Amino acid sequence: MGDRPSDPCVLVIFGAAGDLTQRLLLPSFYNLQQAGLLPEGFAIVGVARADKNDAAFRDELKESLARFVKGATAEGQTWLAERMYYVQGDFDDAKTYENVGAKLKEVEQAHRTGGNALFYLAVPPAMFGPVVRSLGKTGLAREERSWRRVVVEKPFGHDLPSAQALNRELLGVLKEEQIYRIDHYLGKETVQNIMVLRFANGLFAPLWNRDHIDHVQITVAETLGVETRGKFYDTTGALRDMVPNHLAQLLSLIAMEPPNCFDAEDLRTEKTKAMRAVHLSKEEVRANVVRAQYTGGSAGGRAMPGYRESVGVARNSVTETYVAMKLRIENWRWAGVPFYLRTGKALAKRRSEVLIRFKRAPLALFHGVPAADLTPNDLVLHIQPEEGASLKLSAKQPGPSLKLGEVNMTFNYADYFEAEPKTGYETLLHDCMLGDATLFQRADNIESGWRVVQPILDCWAESGKVTLPEYAAGSEGPEAADALLARDGRVWRPLNGKV
Ligand code: BG6
Repeated sequence: MGDRPSDPCVLVIFGAAGDLTQRLLLPSFYNLQQAGLLPEGFAIVGVARADKNDAAFRDELKESLARFVKGATAEGQTWLAERMYYVQGDFDDAKTYENVGAKLKEVEQAHRTGGNALFYLAVPPAMFGPVVRSLGKTGLAREERSWRRVVVEKPFGHDLPSAQALNRELLGVLKEEQIYRIDHYLGKETVQNIMVLRFANGLFAPLWNRDHIDHVQITVAETLGVETRGKFYDTTGALRDMVPNHLAQLLSLIAMEPPNCFDAEDLRTEKTKAMRAVHLSKEEVRANVVRAQYTGGSAGGRAMPGYRESVGVARNSVTETYVAMKLRIENWRWAGVPFYLRTGKALAKRRSEVLIRFKRAPLALFHGVPAADLTPNDLVLHIQPEEGASLKLSAKQPGPSLKLGEVNMTFNYADYFEAEPKTGYETLLHDCMLGDATLFQRADNIESGWRVVQPILDCWAESGKVTLPEYAAGSEGPEAADALLARDGRVWRPLNGKV
């Protein structure tokens, strides 16, 4: 994370005709340019199968900015458009890579990009390996007095063995330092803020452990259903789509030990260490993991068909759209503290947050108020859409008698910091160009995420076709998820409740 422009370089987007380029990449580079974070020596080469020329690719920038950047300036648009080029070709055709190589030389001359190149794989996951192999074969990935880096999007594998195989394949061509595996959750300010909150405030350090924390809840709830992604989602499901990546990020940032310093290697080592301490036996999967599917209802203010009625979804699908689980982290800091995770589509509210519930005061000191009735201290980290943190405390209600009330100390990001227009990708893209891998996944981080969910995948595969519990679109989720916490005498923080 830096505030200086990066080295001169060319961004090569494989799959430049896709939605990601329009919706995220072009707007992010525009925003980076506006923030003064792009070097003068910069260019974009789009590569895709569609028959197009540079002018048509530049027109797409115009469209993208009109749709996704409020108040984009003509000047900024021209700056970027003048640096955009297009190469038509199939990703499995060697000629495409030769053409990309020739274009890189041309662009290097025209824009003084210094030979550095960032290859962005906005391609279907099955193409990650083949594209990287071709980059290797054609010498495009070779670093000679310049850098060559590759950005890989999720999904990174569909289980532990496939993620390991993909890592082996990439590492057969590239050095680990050349690979930037993106998890867009790490581009979110409030996710990054978890580290700052924990490690820049002395207040939390002594409390952040099993002596003081009762349990942790991690929620990533969406009101969106599967929308137009039925075909992809039906072979993926909520577990693979969200848990080994996004929820694992949140879990590891909350659970990890303080790194020696805020450095890519130290930080990523600590994250993997925390994930390795997560245990889930097959018996625990059966008892502690809940999956469910939504039926018709109304979510996010819209009528929503049931999951099985959605386009691209099998009518008898048993793909989960919701998953909740209780995990244990077997290490010195967390032994005995349950971590409850839940994520789902078509829920009552869009809300991503982490709840840290502290243990109650030890004694019923106040007459007539049993210790069990004291308000527990909850620290809630609001990730989205609200961004901030709140701390719940007990306070005396005004008046002659001693009555306790519940109060909240709340910090809203927006009250303190002016947010810049952002897609959430700017920091990540800029970091790749700076060569800072702190917010990217190393091979072991990816594998440690999949290792946690692998017993669940195995168990579900063994149990074959089952009837899944259901929840109505727009609800708080399935009853079985409530029962999972009720068994431990706990409840989920309501999605519909106060922030
Ligand atoms: C993606 C998943 O990785 O993350 C989507 O594939 C999900 O299914 C999305 O909707 C959630 O991201 P965000 O930033 O909206 O929380």
